[in-house]
Amino acid sequence: MNIDPNEIGRKEAYSLFTSVIVPRPIAWVTTLNENGSTNAAPFSFFMGVTSYPPRLAISASSRGGIPKDTAKNIIRTEEFVVNLVTKSNVEAMNITSVDYEYGVDELLKANLSTGESEKISTPCIKESPVNMECRLEKIVEIGEPTNYLIIGEVVLFHIDEAIYSEGVVDPHKLQSVGRLGNPLYSNVNDIFRMERP
Ligand SMILES: Cc1cc2nc3c(=O)[nH]c(=O)nc-3n(C[C@H](O)[C@H](O)[C@H](O)COP(=O)(O)O)c2cc1C
Repeated sequence: MNIDPNEIGRKEAYSLFTSVIVPRPIAWVTTLNENGSTNAAPFSFFMGVTSYPPRLAISASSRGGIPKDTAKNIIRTEEFVVNLVTKSNVEAMNITSVDYEYGVDELLKANLSTGESEKISTPCIKESPVNMECRLEKIVEIGEPTNYLIIGEVVLFHIDEAIYSEGVVDPHKLQSVGRLGNPLYSNVNDIFRMERP
């Protein structure tokens, strides 16, 4: 069958699109609110952009015509942290996806502890084994209503030594969680090896 996205509604297009690009890694983004508290929210429109220097991108849609708190904070502070979602912190991640009022400390709401960043002021999430401190490089506004494609440079990786060996993170130990079509998620537990031809 063929489906023309212009002939289905916005909601249907979202459901279809997010069910075909799977599994998606989840950027669990912390940002600084104006009152100094920490905002946290998951974004599965998330990808690496370049590896040297490492740059990554997330895409945040707008809510009621205004940027989500994450985008609002990044526009103001020009920094953010991408924390990774794993089997052990996935429920807390879900709590931080709630649309809390601006300024609410979402780490407190999800019973998470604040970790200190070194190169930026935005805190990271201690319960995540990988935190990437990012400085904003560029924001591309796209679509109607506006979506914010946020590109940042990773200026520091914090990696739990228990999951790290010889320059890489062991996926068996990381236990990262992927997002499928709403409300489905996947664990990474069927890992195989294939060399380049
Ligand atoms: C697993 C997961 C992935 C999500 N991915 C995105 C995304 O890529 N883009 C987006 O705009 N919203 C996404 N959301 C919804 C936001 O997390 C949600 O709107 C959140 O309240 C935004 O928080 P903020 O206003 O504090 O930035 C996702 C939600 C979940 C649970």
